[in-house]
This record gives sequence, C-alpha cells and structure tokens, in this order.
Amino acid sequence: MSVHAEVKKVTTHTLLRMKQAGEKIAMLTAYDYSFATLLDEAGIDVLLVGDSASNVMAGNETTVPITLEHMIYHAQCVVKGVNKALVVVDMPFGTYQGNSDVALASAIRIMKETGGHSVKMEGGEEILDSIQKIVKAGIPVMGHLGLTPQSIYKFGTYTVRAKEIAEAEKLKADALLLQEAGCFALVLEKIPAALAKEVSESLHIPTIGIGAGKDCDGQVLVMHDMLGINHHFKPRFLRQYANLHIVITQAVQQYVADVRAVDFPNDSEAY
Ligand code: KIV
Repeated sequence: MSVHAEVKKVTTHTLLRMKQAGEKIAMLTAYDYSFATLLDEAGIDVLLVGDSASNVMAGNETTVPITLEHMIYHAQCVVKGVNKALVVVDMPFGTYQGNSDVALASAIRIMKETGGHSVKMEGGEEILDSIQKIVKAGIPVMGHLGLTPQSIYKFGTYTVRAKEIAEAEKLKADALLLQEAGCFALVLEKIPAALAKEVSESLHIPTIGIGAGKDCDGQVLVMHDMLGINHHFKPRFLRQYANLHIVITQAVQQYVADVRAVDFPNDSEAY
C-alpha cells in the first residue's frame, strides 16, 4: 500500500515518509472551498493556498499586493473543504521579511485564524531568523527557493534562476540552511533540472518542484494553469491537463443561447 493510501490525514511526517519510500508528492494550489473539496477528494497530497491568489483570484500582475487578511480569507475557505490533504498557506510579501517578531505574529495569525497546517516562506539566509523563530513556536514551515515571485522587482523577469555558478552555489547553501532551521519541505521554482536533482539528493526533507525537472520529490502547479482556465499562460514547464477555458466558454455560450431562445427553462425545469 502507498504511504498516501495508508494515512487518514497527510502530515509533514507523511511527506518525509513518502520521500523515504520514493513516492512522489503531488501538490496543487487552491483558494476556495469548492475546488479544495474537489482536489482533496481526487487524492491530492498537499494543497497550497498560494499567494498566486493575487494573480488568479484578484487579477493583479504580481503576488506583491496580496495582504495577510486576503490570505487568511482564502485559507479559511480551503480548510473547510479538506479532509485529508496537508494545507500549506503562503505568507504574503511584507509579513515576514526584515523582522522576525512580525514574522512570528503573522504566522500565528494564519495558524489560529485559518486552521491551516503550515506556512510557506520565500527566501534563504536573508529570512533565516524568521524561519527559526516560527519553527521554534511549533509551526511547520515550507521553504521556497529559486524563482521567488515576491522578489520580482529585484529579479526583473520570471526567467529561470540559478543558471550561473554563484547563484546555484547560494541556492545549495540556502537549501541546507533551511533544512537545518527545521523546514519540513522546500519548493524549488524554475531552476535547472540538474541543480534540482542535486539539491533533492542532498536533503533528507522533500523538495517540491515547479519548472525544476522530474527529480524533485514532488511537483506543484497552479490549479488554474493546469486546468487550462488561465489559457494565455503557457510556460514550458506547464502541462495542461484540461481545457476548462473551452469547456466553460462553450457551456456559457450554450446557456446564453438557450435563455435567448426561451429554451431554458423548459416545463420540466419549472414548478
Ligand atoms: O503561490 C504559488 O502558487 C506558489 C507556487 C507557484 C509554488 O508559490
């Protein structure tokens, strides 16, 4: 029996066992109750209440504007729909950088007000004191290295990170620091597959890749991208598993036509 099938609820310990057993971890983003229920019932291991909500829910260009209040709202909705998956909640930009007391207070709000099981934070050595303080308080932390979208104005583009030796060396050192600080897993975003493989093999905690190749211990995608809702976004790393853009457009066009033709509702759809 797989580790996922063995457990009633996925915990951070389950993910560690999955890595040890060579069982890949499947993670997707979710932002609301209905989709969280669907994804959980479909067997997802981890649901990330991503700050990508800023893009796909709120229509912002970046993840920078989303607030702690917004993230708490989305996480509350997701948690209500979940029975088995581990829920990870992104700490939004501005709630943990630069001051570890503020970071701890933000993480505590997320845990107390949402019922989520853990938080995710972007960055390495620069935010180590915040991670250490949050872990010390008993809150599980998922790290996030490589392309860290909250720093988009520093990077300037969403291109692949750590192609140069110096950046790759820093990433490897950061990954070890985050593991030592007590992170239970690491997201590796948009880095060369060979580097992700090396990092994954050097750590005992699982790595979850997005645009980081097949040798990570798990994979994550933004739900709207993989379901083809967000049909303009087609980076190389994305596999589209459905084309809900077409399905929904056709359904809505049919509904509009039926209403206009007085075909809907018919007698059996009326009281
Ligand atoms: O917010 C998000 O969706 C993420 C994933 C891309 C890892 O951080």
